[in-house]
Amino acid sequence: AQVDKGGHKHWMAKEIAEQPTVLADALAHYLPEGAKGVNLPGVDLDFAGVDRIVMVACGTAFYACQTAKYWFEQLARIPVEVDIASEFRYREPPLGDNTLAIFVSQSGETADTLAALRYCADKAKILSVVNVAESSIARESDVALPILAGAEIGVASTKAFTCQLTVLALLALKAAQDRAALPAETLAQHVGNLRLLPGRIARALDAGEAIRELSWELAEASDVLFLGRGPMYPLALEGALKLKEISYIHAEGYASGELKHGPLALVDSTLPVIVMAPRDGLFDKTISNVQEVMARGGRVLLITDAEGAAEASAGAWHVLEMPSVPPIFAPILYAVPAQLLAYHTAIAKGTDVDQPRNLAKSVTVE
Ligand code: G6P
Repeated sequence: AQVDKGGHKHWMAKEIAEQPTVLADALAHYLPEGAKGVNLPGVDLDFAGVDRIVMVACGTAFYACQTAKYWFEQLARIPVEVDIASEFRYREPPLGDNTLAIFVSQSGETADTLAALRYCADKAKILSVVNVAESSIARESDVALPILAGAEIGVASTKAFTCQLTVLALLALKAAQDRAALPAETLAQHVGNLRLLPGRIARALDAGEAIRELSWELAEASDVLFLGRGPMYPLALEGALKLKEISYIHAEGYASGELKHGPLALVDSTLPVIVMAPRDGLFDKTISNVQEVMARGGRVLLITDAEGAAEASAGAWHVLEMPSVPPIFAPILYAVPAQLLAYHTAIAKGTDVDQPRNLAKSVTVE
């Protein structure tokens, strides 16, 4: 089908804005109205027989896998290993009979991911999560799940990432159901929470104007640090990747708890530190990390849904308030401010947002 920018200046802006719609489409496809439990159409697979999962991908899709590891382990109690595709097969990892190999790829054509899939082909059951349903990776899989994001044109992945996360969250819930790892009520609650996401993401997009304003300052930085804990840690990595891809500012993501083990040495008044901290069980610990950064003159941008966060982080450079979501699925929502920060900072710097230098949408050579 023909796609156009629909009135947006850039593909990336359009693709960010589309997320409430495409996420709702993906949820409607996998959880048809009135369906009982989490029986994903087209997913002929029983996780009761799976005792280990390996997940393999590149770039943004790799961070989707790292996030999903938290879900498969916490919700379904299946151990998960996540690997970068270009590392995976050269290590010749052993795969057991009950291993499920999951490949995540927007294009379904990334050379390293496809080669890793072929390495697993006769050794494990192969499942892929792809945007392009007729791609090589989809064709060579035992089970291929479309993420239904629609064509993604901007080189930096946005809506494909949140759709990948949504499909992986559903898969983790199906795994929990197959393995009776969660009471039916808890499972239903999680499903209900996923269904709330499109609406909450629509509200998160309202932060666009505030983000545009502060991005002028962010554009002056030569380095930026992103911090997160738990499932927000991979999102900190993704936030840093997004910023470097399109604004060319050096950025790093760190687990908040690792701050003291190195990056704290970088903190001074020139370093913006972006802390993505939904109200979760470790929120107070995160706030104490924030205070350590501020005590050293660091400029903290706190992104949170926690009430009273403004007081707890008095002296922060900025606080961006997000609609509240259950912390376990918060990465799906907090992806939006991370994307908007990269987008507006790149605009402030005048870089080519949709077609960053030296990068390609789909890397079909190794
Ligand atoms: C390239 C793109 C990224 C993407 C990665 C993996 O580096 O620029 O946006 O995340 O490839 O691509 P895939 O199509 O396999 O998801």
